Amino acid sequence: MTEKAKQTGGEISIRHAKKSFRMEGRTLEVLGDIDLTIDAGDIVSIIGASGCGKSTLLRLIAGLDFPDEGEVRIGGKKVEKPSVDVGVLFQESRLLPWDTTEKNIAFGLPEKFPRDQKKKLVAEYMRLVGLDGFEKALPSQLSGGMQKRVAIARTLINRPEVLLLDEPFGALDAFTRMNLQEEVIRIWKQERMTTVLVTHDIDEAIYMGNKVIIMSAKPGVISKVIRVELPEPRIRTSGDFALLRARVFREFYGEQELPEEYSI
Ligand SMILES: Nc1ncnc2c1ncn2[C@@H]1O[C@H](COP(=O)(O)OP(=O)(O)OP(=O)(O)O)[C@@H](O)[C@H]1O
Ligand SMILES: [Mg+2]
Repeated sequence: MTEKAKQTGGEISIRHAKKSFRMEGRTLEVLGDIDLTIDAGDIVSIIGASGCGKSTLLRLIAGLDFPDEGEVRIGGKKVEKPSVDVGVLFQESRLLPWDTTEKNIAFGLPEKFPRDQKKKLVAEYMRLVGLDGFEKALPSQLSGGMQKRVAIARTLINRPEVLLLDEPFGALDAFTRMNLQEEVIRIWKQERMTTVLVTHDIDEAIYMGNKVIIMSAKPGVISKVIRVELPEPRIRTSGDFALLRARVFREFYGEQELPEEYSI
């Protein structure tokens, strides 16, 4: 894919998308009326209370589910089914336990992909995520962070135009989490795929996103989009970062409930 195609191809446009589920005879309105554009090549974070519909929204973008009303378009094209151009990374790594690292990564590629090229590409992506030397290891022989790297490589090996991350680092310790955040940012800077990160972690949302999108619940709607205008590289311990964190907290919890130390 050419750089130009990448720039125009990955815009996500969600127009008046609504989604309800029927459960035990009741209708649960999960997504209210979502209107959102994510520019091609941008990286944004979504935060919102548990159950507000973040994963449902990602599933609509991925073509794993469909809105009842409204539509989702990627690069101008209506999303009607899952596509190799849209990579999804879930909270759990979902590796095949009986397959080696290289086979798990190759699993991301279409079956018909030429064998010699497959081998070269797998080696390239193993290097990209820092797994050199673990080609033959089974998932059970890898740490949680390494398993996550395998999942990242498997998702990226198709060079998707859009990368959807649903709380991908949730189960990891703080250091591994920070390492993987750096890794994803580094790869994003190189590949510029449109990236949407759902997270519970406000610091992660600010550190990773050019915008922090806040969702409110019942039904899930976009309540605020906050631009992250911090100098690069972002420094987690800087005063500017702390101010922005306070602002996101305030927007997220509402003025009244904000603990005093966050009032600015
Ligand atoms: N297939 C389904 N059938 C019925 N209800 C569903 C289905 N999928 C999601 N829901 C409901 O939709 C609501 C939103 O779920 P969703 O998984 O999108 O939330 P979330 O914001 O990702 O939450 P969390 O932060 O806990 O992951 C929940 O109340 C959930 O029970
Ligand atoms: Mg979820």
